[in-house]
Amino acid sequence: MGLFTKKPIHLLLAEAADSEKGLKKTLSAGALVALGIGAIIGAGLFVRTANAAAQNAGPSVTLGFIVAAIGCALAGLCYAELASSIPISGSAYTYTYATMGELMAWIIGWDLILEYAVGAATVGIAWSEYLNNLLINVLHTSAIPYEWCHSPFEHSTTGVGGIMNIPAFAIVALLSLLLIKGTQESAFVNGLIVITKVAIVILIIIFGWGFINPANHTPYIPAATTYVDSNNISHSFGGFWGIIGAAGTVFFAFIGFDAVSTAAQETKNPKTAMPIGILGSLAVCTVLYILFGHVLTGLGPVEFFRTGGKEASVVMAINAFMPGYEWLGKLVTVAILAGFSSVILVMLLGQSRVFYAMSKDGLLPKVLGTLHPKFQTPYKANLVILVIVGAFAAFIPGDIVGDMTSIGTLFAFSLVCIGVIILRKTNPELPRQFKTPWVPVIPILGVLACVLMMAGLGWTNWLRLFGWLAIGIVIYFAYSKKNSNLKDSNDV
Ligand code: ALA
Repeated sequence: MGLFTKKPIHLLLAEAADSEKGLKKTLSAGALVALGIGAIIGAGLFVRTANAAAQNAGPSVTLGFIVAAIGCALAGLCYAELASSIPISGSAYTYTYATMGELMAWIIGWDLILEYAVGAATVGIAWSEYLNNLLINVLHTSAIPYEWCHSPFEHSTTGVGGIMNIPAFAIVALLSLLLIKGTQESAFVNGLIVITKVAIVILIIIFGWGFINPANHTPYIPAATTYVDSNNISHSFGGFWGIIGAAGTVFFAFIGFDAVSTAAQETKNPKTAMPIGILGSLAVCTVLYILFGHVLTGLGPVEFFRTGGKEASVVMAINAFMPGYEWLGKLVTVAILAGFSSVILVMLLGQSRVFYAMSKDGLLPKVLGTLHPKFQTPYKANLVILVIVGAFAAFIPGDIVGDMTSIGTLFAFSLVCIGVIILRKTNPELPRQFKTPWVPVIPILGVLACVLMMAGLGWTNWLRLFGWLAIGIVIYFAYSKKNSNLKDSNDV
């Protein structure tokens, strides 16, 4: 009893069937793929690809993409099974509650804040960076003063200190309000943005291909060494660990396909739509990423991405190495701003659904589960998330929140993989529309791939992860354990 109390599957399914009181079922498989791509292509591709090339792998960042994609595909197969057999809001949190008990469920729910809320903040910060690019290079006006678009932990090269990242906060607030209005409307806006975003990536690949300088791709895998960045943090550069480090960094670019599963309760036919949504969006993005990484690292040398091309890297590289294509740089800037918005939107959506599920279970205050009388969205959860994400976006540097997002998500993915193995043992009879092939081989390989990428992210990030989880465990024992709906349950 207690810490290891599992939420009975029949209870979960009954909750899902209770659509009278539940969320509106409006999303189709196509809408889910769009939702997935909307969540996936964003700051990871347009900011972290260049970071990974500069700090870890040079051109072999493309191999990092392959490693990350393999890890995501393995975890994705596990997500798809759980999403199709337990079609309930809450994603990894809900699956863990059913398979590993309440304490692990709480830990994963708390950890998912890193993925969704801190991830949304990361992309909000990247949005702010490209907004400045828009003001300077497209609209030819003056930039937002440094102190009002950077966190207090950052300083410009001229010594100006950041105070607050106002644009990052503003975009988070705006999109939170849009979500309160309703998922259907948000999915429509998202669809338009997804088309633009994919088109831009394809244009960069096609036009950029002719400007690849083979010298920048030689050697493709740099010799192993150590690179110390401007914040005095050491990174493994080149060789095997360079590629693994790059995989951990660009893993951020894949985060989001799992957010599809958090919308299970709002999906018309979740049993077939979920696997299509999760794996389909992942497949499309993997192909685009590898080609994109190959082109970007072919345009400029590693040194460029460590210096002049460090921020707004894609547009900087187009302007510097693709003469005659300044128009593309401008187009990319505008499209990226829209593209980042759709990523933030889906992450905020995922976070609100996790809070919704946790509050219904009593692990978070009930008020977070209240639906809006007219829009039927968990608006109070959305408002709380606005404050949390807004604070991260306004006051913490982008690379720190980015790495925290990656390591937190990899941890969640590992537990999802383990959850599949456990659920096959504890509930073998449960109807599964989609079954992960070769269990337990695929889930075990999934865990190994995720842990390898976590290793690539370095000990600083492990410390941040443990610190975050320690805070969560204190809250669990101080509040959630006492308020859990299952506290008197005898189900073990
Ligand atoms: N995958 C998302 C991005 O790249 C989080 O921004």
